[in-house]
Amino acid sequence: MNIIVGENAQGKTTILEAIHVLGLAKSHRTPLDAPLIREGEAFAKAQARCDLAGRHERLEVVISEQGKRIRRNDIEHPRLSDHIGHLNAVMFAPEDLELVKGSPAERRRFLDQGISQFDRRHIRHLARYRKLLKERNEYLKTLAKKKKEPDSLLDVLGEQLAHYAKKIIAARKDFIGELGKIAGTIYAKLSAEDPIEIRYEPSVDAEGFEEALRQKLRIDILNGSTSIGPHRDDCGLYSRKEPFKTKGSQGQFRTLAISLKLAVVEIIRKTRGATPVILLDDVFSELDEKRQEKLLRLLDKDGQVFITTTREGAVHPQSLKQGKVFKIHAGKIEGVSNYGPTQE
Ligand SMILES: Nc1ncnc2c1ncn2[C@@H]1O[C@H](COP(=O)(O)OP(=O)(O)OP(=O)(O)O)[C@@H](O)[C@H]1O
Ligand SMILES: [Mg+2]
Repeated sequence: MNIIVGENAQGKTTILEAIHVLGLAKSHRTPLDAPLIREGEAFAKAQARCDLAGRHERLEVVISEQGKRIRRNDIEHPRLSDHIGHLNAVMFAPEDLELVKGSPAERRRFLDQGISQFDRRHIRHLARYRKLLKERNEYLKTLAKKKKEPDSLLDVLGEQLAHYAKKIIAARKDFIGELGKIAGTIYAKLSAEDPIEIRYEPSVDAEGFEEALRQKLRIDILNGSTSIGPHRDDCGLYSRKEPFKTKGSQGQFRTLAISLKLAVVEIIRKTRGATPVILLDDVFSELDEKRQEKLLRLLDKDGQVFITTTREGAVHPQSLKQGKVFKIHAGKIEGVSNYGPTQE
């Protein structure tokens, strides 16, 4: 358990973000890479020494305009999708509220990032699907512009799209089934309120995918875009059959967002046999003391946890196992102290 304490704008979030980038080759804040590079600089780099399954490793991720490079023990790692899941990390950040309150796109990103950490095929399926979707949409526009009738190329694109769509839908369905059970249990532990229900709401069933494409063909040509498919899926959150976002309080939203993330931790733990690094960025501020205490207890297990806070007193580690407190100022760690029953 590592607590990082510092005033605003001292670099707390940046440390957690760097760990996230090392594990997932992506920031938690944005799906884009460009914002990670400081203005005027050519690249961004994160490096770490890790113990992974008992092995010492040096990890390095470099992000530049030319793309991303990953090195393990100074050796270039050729495939990005093979690296993801090597160092598992789950971030809890203020932006997570968007999981509950935000658009379906936020939830799709959350689902796919979660699945990707234990199922590398999912990353490849998503990449192929996106590419085919783009091709199909462009072709739809061409057909409309040239006033041409749908032809066999469109059929082929549709078939290929369906092939990957079915794999993505199946992976999301399994994942949400698991997620719903675990997150529900965790939410109940944290809050003792009405149970929550999490439902996969695909824009179309896997079996009916091709048929649905055919039915929507005219509209799709008119709009120059594909109206059904995994890129329009959602994951519905309910409490007593009502959408959660219409009735929850701020603290309840926060608790549900945390429960979803904790469920991902649990699923990674089960499928990978190891606890991911847990990154908690400033998530305590909206929780009352009871919820904070329960959350800390849930987290204080076998894995490594990083917590950022502006107020040292805001996190109560007294009752927990050993850990460290790091003071950060102007991007540098300035002091380290230990806590716990066997204080050194
Ligand atoms: N090591 C560093 N050297 C130089 N600049 C840095 C460093 N780390 C972070 N920064 C920059 O400092 C600013 C604040 O960083 P960050 O968001 O990590 O702060 P924070 O401590 O999390 O603040 P808050 O409490 O407001 O969330 C950002 O603009 C970031 O790019
Ligand atoms: Mg911050």
